Amino acid sequence: MCGIVGYIGREEAAPILLDGLKRLEYRGYDSAGMAVYDPEEGLTVAKAKGRLSVLSELTEGGKTVRGTMGVGHTRWATHGVPSDVNSHPQVSQSGRIAVVHNGIIENYMALKEFLVANGVDFVSETDTEVVAQLIEYFYEGDLLQAVGRVLHRIEGAYALGILCADEPDKVVAVRKDSPLILGYGQDCAYLASDVTAVIRYTREVSYMEDGEIAVLTRGGVRVYNALMQPVVKEHHTVDWDIDAAEKGGYEHFMFKEIMEQPDALRKTISPRIRDGEIVLEGLSLSPEQIRDIRNIHIIACGSSYHVGMVGKYNLEKLLRIPVEVTVASEFRYMDPIVDGRTLAIVISQSGETLDTMAALREARSLGAHILSIVNVVGSSIARESEDVLYTWAGPEIAVATTKAYSTQLVVLDMLGLYFARVLGTVTREEHDRVIGELLTLPDKVARVLTQTEQIQYYASQYFNHDSVFFIGRNLDYAMGLEGSLKLKEISYIHSEAYASGELKHGTISLIEDGTLVVALGTYGPLFEKAMSNILEVKSRGADVLGLTTEDHREQMAQVVDGVITVPETHPMLLPSLSVVPLQLFAYYVALQRGCDIDKPRNLAKSVTVE
Ligand code: M6R
Repeated sequence: MCGIVGYIGREEAAPILLDGLKRLEYRGYDSAGMAVYDPEEGLTVAKAKGRLSVLSELTEGGKTVRGTMGVGHTRWATHGVPSDVNSHPQVSQSGRIAVVHNGIIENYMALKEFLVANGVDFVSETDTEVVAQLIEYFYEGDLLQAVGRVLHRIEGAYALGILCADEPDKVVAVRKDSPLILGYGQDCAYLASDVTAVIRYTREVSYMEDGEIAVLTRGGVRVYNALMQPVVKEHHTVDWDIDAAEKGGYEHFMFKEIMEQPDALRKTISPRIRDGEIVLEGLSLSPEQIRDIRNIHIIACGSSYHVGMVGKYNLEKLLRIPVEVTVASEFRYMDPIVDGRTLAIVISQSGETLDTMAALREARSLGAHILSIVNVVGSSIARESEDVLYTWAGPEIAVATTKAYSTQLVVLDMLGLYFARVLGTVTREEHDRVIGELLTLPDKVARVLTQTEQIQYYASQYFNHDSVFFIGRNLDYAMGLEGSLKLKEISYIHSEAYASGELKHGTISLIEDGTLVVALGTYGPLFEKAMSNILEVKSRGADVLGLTTEDHREQMAQVVDGVITVPETHPMLLPSLSVVPLQLFAYYVALQRGCDIDKPRNLAKSVTVE
C-alpha cells in the first residue's frame, strides 16, 4: 500500500525522501511524488505515475528539487486511476498546502461538494485533494489549528504528512488507523509509514497513536492528542540492522527470506524453550484463565489465515477446545460467538492489516481476551493486544510472506503446547517429543533447502501450466492453501487448494490430460488415503507432483511424475517443513515466467485499507 516519508533538517531533503521511498517500494505502489520547501524557491512538487525511477529521473536524483524539508509518497491507487495528477502530494488551490496521505477519506464526496460550492476547483480524482483543499479553506495563519479543524470533519483511515509554504519551519503529521512513526536525529526529524524508510538515518523512533498530531521541526518533535494537549512519546530503539532490509547479494528478497528461515526459526524457538519447558514472555494469561477458556477464535488474513488453518488442526487436537479460524474481513460482520471466555488469537506479520485490526477491535468489544502473534515490533495490532508473542523473523520485505509465515506457525505450536501442559491434555512424553523436534526444526528446514535445484527442475517442467490444483487432507490440506496462494500471487497462475476428499464433489471434473496437481501426502495417518486421491487424478490424466516425507518417498514415487520430500518429524510440525518446497516451487515458477517476484502486480505488503 501507499508509503510516506518526511524529513526536516539541514540536509537536502529530496535525496533522503527518494532513498526512503525506495525502501518502501516493497509495500506496492503505482506512482510516486514529493513536495519540498525552500525559502527561495517556495514549495516545489514533483510527481509521476510509474516506478520510483521515473520520479528520480524527473528530478535528477532529487537535485532539481531544492530544500531542507519535505514529504514524499508512493501511491497505491484507490480513488482515481494511477496518473501524474492523481499522484501525491496533492496541493491546495493556491499551491501553498501539500499533503501526502495513506488510507481512505470515506466522506470525501460530501466534503468535495461543500468545497466546490465554496468556489474551490479540484484537479484530481483523489480523496486526498479534499484534505489539502480543506486545510487551506480553514487556514488562518496557524497550520496546526487548521489541521485540527479538518480532523473533526474527515472520516476514514489516514496517515497524513503536511507542508505549508507559509510556515516553512515545520512538517505536520497525523495518524488514524494507518501507521506512522516519528524518527529522531541531530537537528532533524523524520516521518515514515514504516521504520524501514528511515532506519538508514536513525534508530530512535516513536510510534504515533490514533488521533495524535505531530509537529516536526529542526529543534525536535512535539506531539498532541486529539484535544490538542501535549503528549510525551516513548522513544524506542530499532534493534535490527539496515542489512536485514537489503538483498545481500540475492536476486530477490523472497529468495533471501526463504533461505533465512532456519535462522528465523532458531531465533523464534530457542529463547522460548528453557529446561525442556515452553516459556512465553508476553503471555499474561494465568493458568486459571487458560483453564477458563471456552472457545478460541483465530483471526487473520491471507497467509496468516493459513497459519490459523494449521493451528485449528493442531490446537483442537492438543487442547480439545473448539477453534474457529475466520478471515478477518468476514469476522467483523458475522456476529461471531464471542464472550469473556473466548480467546482471540490475532495473527499478522505487519501488525497493520486494517481488516485484522478491525476484527481485533470487534472481538475485544465482545469481551474476548486478545493475544496476537506479530512480526513488526510496536505495530498497531501489537499495541492494541493484551498479550503479544513476537515472531522474531526480522524485517520481511517481499510481498509474498515466507519466513514470517514459518515463524508464526511455530509460535502457534508453542502456544498450543504450553496451554496443553497447563490443561493436562498432553502427556509428558508427547510434550518432550515435540520440544525435541522443535529444537531440531531449523536444521531440518535447512535440509529441505538443499533441494532447491531439484525443485527448480520441477518448476522448469511445469511453469507454463494455466491451472494448478493443490490437494491434501488434514494438515496437508492447510498446507495446500498456502502453497496455492504462494503460487498464484507471484506467478499469476490460477491455482486452487482442495481437501482431497472434496475432489469427487465437483472439482475432479476439471482434471484432464496434463492438468498439474500438487499432491501433499506428508501426514502419516492419512498417507494411504492421499495415495488413493493421487490415483484418482492420475487416472484422469493429471501430471502429479508429490510431496511426502522421506520414509514414504519410494511408495509415492511409484505413482507420481515427480516427488519432493521433507524429513520426518512430529506430525504437528510437518507443515513447518512442507511449506518450504512449496515456497521454492512458487518462486522458481515465477522466475521462469519472468514475473516481478518481490512486487507482484496489484499487491501490497501491508494492506491498510478495507
Ligand atoms: O501482515 P499480515 O500478516 O496481516 O498480512 C496478511 C496478508 O495480507 C498476507 O499474508 C498476504 O496474504 C501475503 N501476500 C501472502 O504472501
